[in-house]
Amino acid sequence: HRNILTVYGCKLIHGEILSSNVQTRHFSDDVVYKPDLRRSTEFRERSTSVTSFYNQSAIDQYAKANSVRLTPTTLLYAGKIPDGSHLLRSAQYLHKELPVRIAHRIKGFRNLPFIVGCNPTILQVHEMYIRAFNILSRHPPVDDKASEEKFSETLRTLLDDHKDVVTLLAEGFSECRKHIEDEELIKQFLDRTLKSRLGIRLLCEHHLALHNEQPNHVGIIDVNFSPRKLIEQKAEFVRTICESKYGYAPNFRLNGHLHGRFPYIPPPLEYIVGEILKNAFRASVESNMDNLNNIPDVVVTIAVNDVDFVVRVSDRGGGIPHKIINKVWNYNFTTSGTSTDDRVNGGLYGFGLPGSRAYAEFLGGTLLLETMQGVGTDIYLRLCHIDSSREAFRI
Ligand code: COI
Repeated sequence: HRNILTVYGCKLIHGEILSSNVQTRHFSDDVVYKPDLRRSTEFRERSTSVTSFYNQSAIDQYAKANSVRLTPTTLLYAGKIPDGSHLLRSAQYLHKELPVRIAHRIKGFRNLPFIVGCNPTILQVHEMYIRAFNILSRHPPVDDKASEEKFSETLRTLLDDHKDVVTLLAEGFSECRKHIEDEELIKQFLDRTLKSRLGIRLLCEHHLALHNEQPNHVGIIDVNFSPRKLIEQKAEFVRTICESKYGYAPNFRLNGHLHGRFPYIPPPLEYIVGEILKNAFRASVESNMDNLNNIPDVVVTIAVNDVDFVVRVSDRGGGIPHKIINKVWNYNFTTSGTSTDDRVNGGLYGFGLPGSRAYAEFLGGTLLLETMQGVGTDIYLRLCHIDSSREAFRI
């Protein structure tokens, strides 16, 4: 029996035992071991979980391919054709491209330190990506209107199934933080995963949005985008939740190029602006607890020029103390007392700032922070135009 387990152990390490037609073998004492062992609950449990992580030659194949990233201009000018062939072409691109991108993500999970990869929440996300890979890589070819509609329905469902991935990763990493010594390794994994996931989701959402006629829009691109409108809407939202949490909220002022309009992709900007404003509002209230009727305003300045556009958020919320300033870009670092509170705090489990910077970088931009200890903090979000002649970034 010991021999058998050893054989199984060895085979598992090399990942061969899990092929579907495992041979029954006989040892010199003629014990036929396989059926008994395979019937045991223990084996079945191990077999099922290990199979899904190990026996994945299709994933290995796809992970070897490079992803084909598109310029925003390609998305913007991929003209709409009345017979719907633009939808077909877009779906065919995704049908080929998504399994490659998802295989890269799975490779990322496999390369995590063992103790991190074993965390149940992280394992759950890893399995979600394996499932998405299987669904997409086995999806029949998209070659007519009906199959395109079916494919789009699959995308819609997957986007919804994966909507909580960032929350789950934040939870998972906060659970296994104590086991991690190499901060850089985790940072690289999360930066890469968040950026790649943003690209995947933008492409899927763009494809789905191409089905709808919305004024001034090509897919997810708003061709007449107003930063002022987006910032005002987000500020109003953050002010409301700030008031409901603390009973008070600072006023909000906006200045600079208020009339600037240009084509842009609003969803990632909504996330980033929301996170920055949450920090500014929270700091303003928490550092003025004995002055709640006179909280200093949060001031947002917009600059729009030919090359890029900049959003500066300034608060008088006391600044970030010297002793923690180096940690604010770490994932899972939060100064908020209630780490499960996703409303007005440093972002869920401290993902707000580093996640926003990863998104800004994905968009070819930067997110910088300058703080004046004892007074307040300025954040500069600098992003490039998506229709400039210079290739800003690829999705
Ligand atoms: C994600 O949202 O995590 C994705 O990668 C989406 C994809 C499965 C369609």
